[in-house]
Amino acid sequence: MAHKERVKPVDNSEEDQNIDSLLRPTTWQEYIGQEHVKKNLRVIIEAARKRGEPVDHLLFYGQAGLGKTTLARLVAYEMSAPLKTTSGPAIEKTGDLAAILSNLEANDILFIDEAHRLNRMIEEVLYPAMESRKLHIVIGKGAGARTVSIDLPPFTLIAATTRMNLLSEPLRSRFGAILRLDYYDNKDIELILERSARILGISTTPEAIAILAEASRFTPRVANRLLKRARDYVQVKKKAVIDEEAARQTLEMLDIDKFGLEAHDRQLLSIIIDKFGGGPVGIGTLAAALNEDRGAIEDVYEPYLLKLGLIRRTPAGRVAELLAYECLGRKPKGELF
Ligand code: ADE
Repeated sequence: MAHKERVKPVDNSEEDQNIDSLLRPTTWQEYIGQEHVKKNLRVIIEAARKRGEPVDHLLFYGQAGLGKTTLARLVAYEMSAPLKTTSGPAIEKTGDLAAILSNLEANDILFIDEAHRLNRMIEEVLYPAMESRKLHIVIGKGAGARTVSIDLPPFTLIAATTRMNLLSEPLRSRFGAILRLDYYDNKDIELILERSARILGISTTPEAIAILAEASRFTPRVANRLLKRARDYVQVKKKAVIDEEAARQTLEMLDIDKFGLEAHDRQLLSIIIDKFGGGPVGIGTLAAALNEDRGAIEDVYEPYLLKLGLIRRTPAGRVAELLAYECLGRKPKGELF
């Protein structure tokens, strides 16, 4: 069949998003990895079902792309409850949250993504809602202001965050369970890639799967993104299969190395190695050199580099490990710190 080929150079196009929802697991059987979280959730859900109550409030935390939203959907599915979704940045005023809470129906599950971006005033509306299903609303201003209290139906709050340390302790303590999502292991990422390829009807070789998995930062969202780009590549090259060559070329086009390092990761390593002789470099200095927010370095850049063993955190600052020199094609000048 003759068909026009189009390449999508950027992610997050409408088609990509449609594919993402196609790839998202909808049952526990389909959900690969995170065994510890799944085991805990199964018990919590089963117990709640037996009691005929909504699930206790849950907090999921972990790096972006590890499946927090997918898990929230699975909980809702298992509880046969509707999932209402919002996010920290979308709730600007206490009135926004009051509107969401007062529209909840019995057993609804409210999912708040990026919960670390809720401001303190909004958190304070959440506390009584979570604890005693009360919504306190202040009506009027100044001396004439008064508080009215509204009863809320039984509901479950599922909050997700990538930055646990930014959540206030009072908020954290109101969750019935806090579940941490870890990086996936390589084998699970390979299984996820194979499953996604099957759903999309793409042929792959085991070598290609291994190459894409190794560059996926142990993260399903990254793995699926690389698979989509490899699919584009073979389509344009009129190849029938994503093979080793296609996988390597895809990574090269995206400027991603075989360990999944991107330009900003290499830049961070290069600053430690080339500018500061391998470290130690204080996080503040690193942030200034990269022109980045310190929190973003700690919570977004570093976890993967630490996981790979490319850098080490020491009391004196960040230090590059031998592997980091190898990744950048450098040789250490003397003894490593
Ligand atoms: N796609 C994204 N995350 C997944 C997972 N954990 N299992 C299967 N497919 C996925």
